[in-house]
Amino acid sequence: MSGYILAIDQGTTSTRSMLFDRHMRVVGLGQQEFPQYFPASGWVEHEAEEIWESVLATVRTALAEAGIGAADVAAIGITNQRETTVVWDRQSGEPLHRAVVWQDRRSAHVCDELKARGLEPLFSQKTGLLLDPYFSGTKLAWLLDRTPGLRERAASGEVCFGTVDSWLIYKLTGGRVHVTDATNASRTLIYNIGENRWDEELLDILGIPPAMLPEVKDCAADFGITDPAIFGVEIPILGVAGDQQAAMIGNACFRPGMMKSTYGTGCFALLNTGLDRVASSNRLLTTIAYRLDGVTTYALEGSIFIAGAAVQWLRDELGFITVASDVSRLAEKADPNQRVYLVPAFTGLGAPWWDADARGAIFGLTRGTGPAEFARAALESVAYQTFDLLEAMRRDWQAGTERTILRVDGGMVASDWTMQRLADILAAPVDRPVFLETTILGAAWLAASRAGLWPDREGFAARWQRDHRFEPGMAEAERRQAIDGWRDSVERCLSR
Ligand code: G3P
Repeated sequence: MSGYILAIDQGTTSTRSMLFDRHMRVVGLGQQEFPQYFPASGWVEHEAEEIWESVLATVRTALAEAGIGAADVAAIGITNQRETTVVWDRQSGEPLHRAVVWQDRRSAHVCDELKARGLEPLFSQKTGLLLDPYFSGTKLAWLLDRTPGLRERAASGEVCFGTVDSWLIYKLTGGRVHVTDATNASRTLIYNIGENRWDEELLDILGIPPAMLPEVKDCAADFGITDPAIFGVEIPILGVAGDQQAAMIGNACFRPGMMKSTYGTGCFALLNTGLDRVASSNRLLTTIAYRLDGVTTYALEGSIFIAGAAVQWLRDELGFITVASDVSRLAEKADPNQRVYLVPAFTGLGAPWWDADARGAIFGLTRGTGPAEFARAALESVAYQTFDLLEAMRRDWQAGTERTILRVDGGMVASDWTMQRLADILAAPVDRPVFLETTILGAAWLAASRAGLWPDREGFAARWQRDHRFEPGMAEAERRQAIDGWRDSVERCLSR
């Protein structure tokens, strides 16, 4: 049987390739971690060639596991870590610097200078983002400033810039195609999300030559055909989206007001605002959720830096658990009369606080506090931080958030205890899907629907299945008290 879909999820620490059959069933998986480089404090880099090698290796593993050949693959979908910035030689394909990863803070001073010039409102109004080193634009400006001759070569068209999706498409097509999709473009700080084009004024401010930019396409489009030298056959690449947007698609959050939250190392929550480009007054991001058939759907996004990482901290630094999955069993044993709060600002605080200099703290310790209370505080911190995001979203867009149901995915959602706590603190239902690999499913659907092999948007959404709905059950007074305690704890951690 041919008609298989190959979906590639190129993430921050690992690459996964998954093969789906015509019935949307997983038939093969390849997974590989790749090296991370930390050349200076706050710097994070990847070797673009190592990313590419990991893609090739995982595709081969997935094909072998499925027992099929590349000729059976009808289409490829790609999803990827966003914002990570790659520059390479258009002719030779040689990377001209290590990829600067989204977590990298090296361009903080560029952002500070732009803010001092009063330019943040201009960037926000056009891109929906904030002046933060998280996004590609100032990373690219840094590379152009610091690499001798790079700007001149870029201006003459010899150099390509791209996020990881662009890099992979370039490699897959044997260097013939330089493109990206609207969701990835929307994370670069140089893409005008209202007018759907690279913004000349912002490019000028950052000194980025337009000649180095990829063409921007819809998420389901013709992104090129693989070079037969790679897999022995030509396979069309038909779907691309940044990983958080792909998770939103895979979780079928297609209607305005629908929200998804992915709990990995950190947490990314996206609220579908439909055709409304809701500008945030609460320091959330406005971003492109997806662009299909030329129609742009927007989202409000909030990111939390530490979610699952708090559990890793309990395991690796404190030694309270040996495996991450033990954490909820430990949390359940916590003394209900102790109110212990952990503010996991290990690397600062993300939305809606955006305080890079905040640091973590634990409050409410008594002589009886032990590992169980720490475990509960760590899991609850995830719920409280999600609450902060949802609250900010409610303030930004009250009309769309009145009956929000949160769809969740990512490693942490296996814990019933955490999901129940989340529903309690949010005072909103939390839906956990049967199929938890929503990110890669989203990429697969984009490609498969474009190929005409899987159902369209409505049909796909109808097939979304709930594993469990966690209904909120906490008394309002208790909830308020708990949230007040959290807020008080956060206030004490802020640097200003
Ligand atoms: O914005 C960064 C995000 O896309 C990274 O996601 O899952 O690779 O950590 P992940």
